[in-house]
Amino acid sequence: TRPLKVALLGCGVVGSEVARIMTTHADDLAARIGAPVELAGVAVRRPDKVREGIDPALVTTDATALVKRGDLDIVVEVIGGIEPARTLITTAFEHGASVVSANKALLAQDGAALHAAAGEQGKDLYYEAAVAGAIPLIRPLRESLAGDKVNRVLGIVNGTTNFILDKMDTTGAGYQEALDEATALGYAEADPTADVEGFDAAAKAAILAGIAFHTRVRLDDVHREGMTEVTAADFASAKEMGCTIKLLAICERAEDGASVTARVHPAMIPLSHPLASVRGAYNAVFVESDAAGQLMFYGPGAGGAPTASAVLGDLVAVGRNRIGGTTGPGESAYAALPVSSMGEV
Ligand code: HSE
Repeated sequence: TRPLKVALLGCGVVGSEVARIMTTHADDLAARIGAPVELAGVAVRRPDKVREGIDPALVTTDATALVKRGDLDIVVEVIGGIEPARTLITTAFEHGASVVSANKALLAQDGAALHAAAGEQGKDLYYEAAVAGAIPLIRPLRESLAGDKVNRVLGIVNGTTNFILDKMDTTGAGYQEALDEATALGYAEADPTADVEGFDAAAKAAILAGIAFHTRVRLDDVHREGMTEVTAADFASAKEMGCTIKLLAICERAEDGASVTARVHPAMIPLSHPLASVRGAYNAVFVESDAAGQLMFYGPGAGGAPTASAVLGDLVAVGRNRIGGTTGPGESAYAALPVSSMGEV
């Protein structure tokens, strides 16, 4: 069988792990896909940075030329952000490749347009890594639960803020002290705004709500409130009530089934709820459905290797589709349910 040619856009924390696992697990990947995978090019911003294990001849700064090559089977986009990622992905479809992306911001904003671009070219767009890193969520919601009816998704989908809130809860630390520790440990970015103001969780909520309820939910539809105002005193009051405080992404289908809501805000959770015991930088997503009842998905929601695990899973799925001359399920069967950002709290 001919090898599948894979291009990597971005070779940072996640991209370098994807490249490493592609090499170390090459035989397993080939066995699972039914064809070997070959790293055909790696687009980076800074070519001078030493990248262990990657053939320097594959490295380029011209991502556009790479996705226009015309012989690529799969483009893996781990750059993040809206542009140039969006243009590179649509260009990749136009030049015959399917795409695996970890880009939550882009999928939350332009998921429908990107799915349409993939569909027009008969290509796949997979993005398991965009929500909660290693935790399988997209495919379970879209495929395993496709015959059920999901009514509510409650998620701790941002590791940085969960670390901060957990620290405040268990040690009595204030917000700033806990944030400083999260920064020192490398969880929070130098600019932690997207995490602490809930933008990161809101993007993930939009993606989860769209897939769980088979409709379209965009980032702008998600009501968002960060967790910077939560104080040590709030935790003390929560404790008195047998609760803790988590930054939750809450996606709900209205009881009459006619609309959905998605929101992100700090919420009190009874200590007896499984989400209350999610510690440190871990993520967890609690799903309630008609037939299955209650499900919980738990694991590392960030980091190079865990996120690469989800990317590689998509690579195998898309690779199998290429070999089989087919495509995956694409965008969830689309029903235009009205989306309201508030719902009842
Ligand atoms: N900043 C994110 C988090 C990274 O803390 O969860 C994963 O999307």
